[in-house]
Amino acid sequence: MAETKTTKNVKVKNAKTIAFPVKESNAEPTLQEKKKVLFAASEARPFIATGGLADVIGSLPQALAKDANYDIRVVLPLYSDIKSELRRKMNFLGNIYVPLGWRNQYCGIFTCVERGVTYYFIDNEYYFKRTGCYGYYDDGERFAFFSRSVMEILPFIGYYPDLLHCHDWQTALASIYLKTVYAQNPEYQRIRALFTIHNIEYQGKYSLDLLGELFGLPTDCLGLVEYDGCINLMKGAIECSERFSTVSPTYAKEIQSAEYAHGLQEIICKNAGKLTGILNGIDVASYDPATDPALFANFDAENLENKKICKAELQKMLGLPVKEVPVIAMISRLVSHKGLELVKTVAEDILHEDIQFVLLGTGDFAYEEYFKDLGKRYEGKASVNIAFNGDLSRKIYSGADIFLMPSLSEPCGLSQMIASRYATVPVVRKTGGLFDSIKPYGAGGNGFTFASCNAYDMLYVIHEAIDTYKNTTAWQGLMKKAATTDFSWSHSADEYKALYSDILTM
Ligand code: GLC
Repeated sequence: MAETKTTKNVKVKNAKTIAFPVKESNAEPTLQEKKKVLFAASEARPFIATGGLADVIGSLPQALAKDANYDIRVVLPLYSDIKSELRRKMNFLGNIYVPLGWRNQYCGIFTCVERGVTYYFIDNEYYFKRTGCYGYYDDGERFAFFSRSVMEILPFIGYYPDLLHCHDWQTALASIYLKTVYAQNPEYQRIRALFTIHNIEYQGKYSLDLLGELFGLPTDCLGLVEYDGCINLMKGAIECSERFSTVSPTYAKEIQSAEYAHGLQEIICKNAGKLTGILNGIDVASYDPATDPALFANFDAENLENKKICKAELQKMLGLPVKEVPVIAMISRLVSHKGLELVKTVAEDILHEDIQFVLLGTGDFAYEEYFKDLGKRYEGKASVNIAFNGDLSRKIYSGADIFLMPSLSEPCGLSQMIASRYATVPVVRKTGGLFDSIKPYGAGGNGFTFASCNAYDMLYVIHEAIDTYKNTTAWQGLMKKAATTDFSWSHSADEYKALYSDILTM
């Protein structure tokens, strides 16, 4: 039964009054209704992926949808890079026109159901018929169009969510539009907003004069989105959303300091009462060493014997001698915050050990060149693969022994969890989600950790890992510990549900 609501007016500095819905005391408890949650995001597996965000948007909705009390849907841009076999699954629902500043843009709406979750795709060839997802001069306009479309399609699809769950700067404007442009519309007034930060480095910063022209926001919204002399969409979403979150409890603490907040610490601290950190999970059905078809041989935590085949075949495939030395792997974007300076500082020391080193990733030109050169100099010992390759990544996760992830900052990180599930023992820096997911072997944990951003501290724990590897019984126990750590969504999905309930009863 629909509950009766009135609205409470909330004044935000320099902005127009925002109407937040408030439950009346005699209203039906929201918890008894099927809760409608609409995810708005810029990428999701299996449709389109450039990073960890796609893994989360491709698995958290499914985990939530297992609960019959939830009606979870997801809206994404229809990029031309979405493969034709996935496009063929989609049905065209129709089209509308979306206002954006002085423009009125075509918006086709496609839909399909993927593992129990309904997806909607926003089609506009001018904005999305391009290679990849990001990196265009008009990204601000592209994602403003997308965010505005998220608002505009609701009457067309006949679905007004109870909660709009937006992710990262690309969809920040959807929550800003919800609480400003649409604030007086009764159908939208009851929608609450949650904004999740996956990467605080990209905030969506634009010059102030684009407020009306590009984003179609009225002048009295300036105070909401203005920060440090420019429009900051992430700041606007934090201010507008009833709550905001990030992808690990430790990162939620870290982004309250200048060291991690990329300039946004003042806003994060001011809104800290609205902030929650929930650790991501991984799709344990997809990342299952017992069934993963990409692996040379399947295995599970109870019987790790076939992992040896995975290792030997990986060595053969990468042109490394097939021998019983620890294979240290990195699968990473090659950018500085992944801790690559630490790796560079001690790479030669590591490679002088009786080990093999495998790297897979793409990124900054200088790092790509550095690692290519390292691969050449240590041919037969180091295998450097400058590529983004899902199949090879799974072969490495399963065939390596040690997984190195020394990030300077890491909101959550998924690779350490995938590696663990494939019985490859992580060596991580204690930051963000790495700290929350990997605990030191010495204290009965599932990996090796170091605290400071110091290459020699990292080298010390790498040696510890190599020494432990040489003790077969200890290593078997550690592999099993890693492979049996629960990285499924079950616990975190419950935390999201608790957060949703909190917001919906506000
Ligand atoms: C971003 C973060 C990563 C996180 C992922 C999913 O890619 O850098 O740490 O795991 O988002 O939330």
